[in-house]
Amino acid sequence: MRAGLPAPAEHRPALPGPVFAAHYHLSGDPTGPYTYGRDENPTWTLLEAAVGELEAPGHEDVTTLVFASGMAAISAVLFSRLSAGDAVVLPDDGYQVLPLVRARLEAFGVEVRTVPTAGWDRLDALDGARLVWLETPSNPGLDVCDVRSIATAAHKAGALVAVDNTLATPLGQRPLELGADFVVASGTKQLTGHGDLLMGYVAGRAGAAMEAVRHWRKIAGAVAGPMESWLAHRSIATLHLRVERQAVTALRVAEALRTRPEVTGLRYPGLPDDPSHRIASRQMRHHGCVVSFVLPCRAHADRFLRAARLVDEATSFGGVRSTAERRGRWGGDAVEEGFVRLSVGVEDPEDLIRDLFRALDAAAD
Ligand SMILES: Cc1ncc(COP(=O)(O)O)c(C=O)c1O
Repeated sequence: MRAGLPAPAEHRPALPGPVFAAHYHLSGDPTGPYTYGRDENPTWTLLEAAVGELEAPGHEDVTTLVFASGMAAISAVLFSRLSAGDAVVLPDDGYQVLPLVRARLEAFGVEVRTVPTAGWDRLDALDGARLVWLETPSNPGLDVCDVRSIATAAHKAGALVAVDNTLATPLGQRPLELGADFVVASGTKQLTGHGDLLMGYVAGRAGAAMEAVRHWRKIAGAVAGPMESWLAHRSIATLHLRVERQAVTALRVAEALRTRPEVTGLRYPGLPDDPSHRIASRQMRHHGCVVSFVLPCRAHADRFLRAARLVDEATSFGGVRSTAERRGRWGGDAVEEGFVRLSVGVEDPEDLIRDLFRALDAAAD
């Protein structure tokens, strides 16, 4: 509710409005805090404080940097850390743009190794690696990995660890407390939750690594707009309500969907018999808002998506309005044609389940 708010001041708003500035008055030798709009902005400062308080409460030594999108944040860590000859470990089942980043890294002479999110029982990929990238839960497969034990092994091998925390949000999971060096996320999703802006962030212990990320932001210039930053900060005030409600409803939806004979491959880390449940329950406080499942074929899934009224057919996830899509339509994920990724919103759970069942009935005809 109060993350990142300035100390109360008489006649001032609780959350100051967005500061639109390309440059700031600056005389003589340039000194901060505010010089040029690609380097600093007071609206970012408040949002960065908010995200830092959520990702690492009480850790004053953590720096947070906001970016124009999740991909800008991801690229900032990967491209500021890695040079030709380095080795990096990426998930082979992570967000579908990661393989495109992989191709660029390889073109720059970086060795890329991959490990499936649920396949960390062997640690040989760590030998000589400089950076390990984890995405847990993974999108869209909803596998999880044990951040603490992988971070311990990676540090022993001399590698830093970054965790994509998009799906969990900082209220669902705190990777820095589990031993990660960087937490990275798309704030486009549940962190801001209204499907109306793109945002990303990186948080990590202050030091050379985070200064390199800051430098990358300056040279790549993928900076967040002041309006988006302000909207993001305003949205964070309801994050706890949304995260809790969406997780509770997602579990109810998953339990309801498992009674349907046409639904197979159902995944939700909150289901006690889900393969992710044991580790997820140890390191997550909420299990997220995404449920995935498989319908018999592509046409069946398309009919279901068209028939649903309370679920918009759209990509992305984490918003207040439920969305779903046939993930195979993008071609980037190793999923079956009938694979559906459903993002559960804040609708009344009964209404939502009734609508899903009605759409499944319609799709079966
Ligand atoms: C897990 C994950 N990480 C990163 C991203 C990229 O975020 P953005 O779309 O804000 O660039 C996404 C987008 O879907 C995602 O699902």
